[in-house]
Amino acid sequence: MCGIIGITGSDDTVAALLDGLALLEYRGYDSAGIAIVEPSNTIFRMRAAEQGGSLYHLANGLSKEKAGSLNHTAGIGHTRWATHGAPTVTNAHPHVDCTSALAVVHNGIIENHNRLAQELKSRGHTFSSETDTEVIAHLAEEQIAGGKSVKDAVIALLTILRGAFALALVHRDSPDTIYAARRTSPLIIGSESGVGLLASDVAAMIDKTRNLFELGDDQVAEIRPEEFKVYDHLGVEMQPKPIRVGWSTEAARKGGFPDYMSKEIHEQPTALSETILGRLEASGATYLEELEIEDSRLAAIERVLLVACGSSYHAALAGRHAIEAWAKIPAEVDIASEMRYRAMQIPANTLVVAISQSGETTDTYHAMRQARSQGVITLAVTNVVGSLMTREADGVLYTRAGPEIGVASTKCHIAQLALLQCLALRLADLKGTLSDAEKSAVATEILALPALVEQTLASHEQFRKVAERYAESRDFYYLGRRLGFPVALEGALKLKELAYVRAEAYPAGEMKHGPISLIEPGSVVVVVAKRSSLWEKIMANVEEMRARGATVIAVSDEGDEETASLVDDVLETPPVTEVCSPVIGVLPLQVFAYTVAKAKGHDVDRPRNLAKVVTVE
Ligand code: F6R
Repeated sequence: MCGIIGITGSDDTVAALLDGLALLEYRGYDSAGIAIVEPSNTIFRMRAAEQGGSLYHLANGLSKEKAGSLNHTAGIGHTRWATHGAPTVTNAHPHVDCTSALAVVHNGIIENHNRLAQELKSRGHTFSSETDTEVIAHLAEEQIAGGKSVKDAVIALLTILRGAFALALVHRDSPDTIYAARRTSPLIIGSESGVGLLASDVAAMIDKTRNLFELGDDQVAEIRPEEFKVYDHLGVEMQPKPIRVGWSTEAARKGGFPDYMSKEIHEQPTALSETILGRLEASGATYLEELEIEDSRLAAIERVLLVACGSSYHAALAGRHAIEAWAKIPAEVDIASEMRYRAMQIPANTLVVAISQSGETTDTYHAMRQARSQGVITLAVTNVVGSLMTREADGVLYTRAGPEIGVASTKCHIAQLALLQCLALRLADLKGTLSDAEKSAVATEILALPALVEQTLASHEQFRKVAERYAESRDFYYLGRRLGFPVALEGALKLKELAYVRAEAYPAGEMKHGPISLIEPGSVVVVVAKRSSLWEKIMANVEEMRARGATVIAVSDEGDEETASLVDDVLETPPVTEVCSPVIGVLPLQVFAYTVAKAKGHDVDRPRNLAKVVTVE
């Protein structure tokens, strides 16, 4: 996710940048760095990458070298959530061009960075990092060398760069100016009493000014102490859109939401689109080069074993279906804490996929290591660059959900679901198991998911109202079949961990083999009843529950009156094909659990007895 900050005209540039970075640290903390134009017209740059203390180390270094010495000049800063390249000092922003004439910070993903870097290298540029960002510095250098002003060079970047970006750039020849550009990733600009500012979000700025503006897509800003100007991609001056905020700094960190969990629920469309970005085209083509497992090895895979814990395990259960349906190879799922103590006999040509939001979960890590010791290929799917599992796995795929602060996983779970779909499609491509038309249909549907998630979350109020009616219920049963089952498991886990209420999840067909004895008046059954070929069967199971006095809530398709007529309450979501349905189906259940927990007065960000990273057995 990353956070960027810029300030010009301050009487203590270093202190102002550090203050802003502290407020942006929630967006990532793999490294921190600043660049400031010195009065001698050189760029001063300092960066730090220390686990758990990048900003602290940066501040320490600066206090020794530069405290209070740089003022009224332009500076930029960055706090990193690593996506391309390990969390090291060399990969830390700001990045500079070949001559250190300019420095740049960036939040987002430059989709065409591989091709651009190759071209730049062939023209003699020297790269010093593994990041996608560094191409921006060298491209700007070339444009300026070709005779463009810095502003025009940044405008030219808009047509060269593909992907998402919010970037800020300083140049040694314009000591008081910050140049900024944006597409998709957020960027706010502002000014107050002779100080010009920019930041990734309002939270990092509102203690300095409430005179805030949103830089629009494909716009460039030129920020000086006394004024800022905004241009479109043709260089025509524009009026930026003002932002009105009544939030306190603390509320702004949560994006105006009452807690991190609701903020993260609403960040899910972005988490999804960032995870998919550059990895998938509507044609069905997939780009997962970062995997670093050669295609020939992947093509030889004969089975997949997915291993994980908790919500990641539920994502694995859904991912299995996509792998089987599209790549048509056997896929199994195991709970890491069980798998590691079995006498595992993993056949050769198995791909073991360890899924872990944190990349540090002890059970998953050891299960993955054990699999690796049997000589099979291992792949870590995680949200945290450089985490334990990424250092041991043969290949890594990152979800790009940004830091998840709420203990209960929401946006990371959704990102895992989408990334496993991309992997399934990649395997299908290598195996040749889908026609071009089928690949394209599947890809188009995955690409539509961020907008569908946004559309689903717009029904947040409807989900909340239903949930409030059940805030006092004590016994919940979550049922689903096939792809509805992982959704049921995830919904039940969310209710248990947040609301501290008993919630059992079963494959709906299993109820009659025992658990149905538990059903009595007062039991609440939450059934995942989105339309699929198993809909009639699941509704037959619903009848069995209702006959024994249960109240039934269905996660259904919008406008499905038949389902609505057969249950007591519905949580309506947009229709989607079954393989993509877990991404949509789980959303109302997150809101449901959140609402019940809030009604009980619980802290949803820090549920009792739980930890975000589970490093014990
Ligand atoms: C539930 C939750 C946990 C984690 C589990 C695995 O909301 O967050 O169940 O999914 O502890 O953690 P990771 O994914 O970090 O391995």
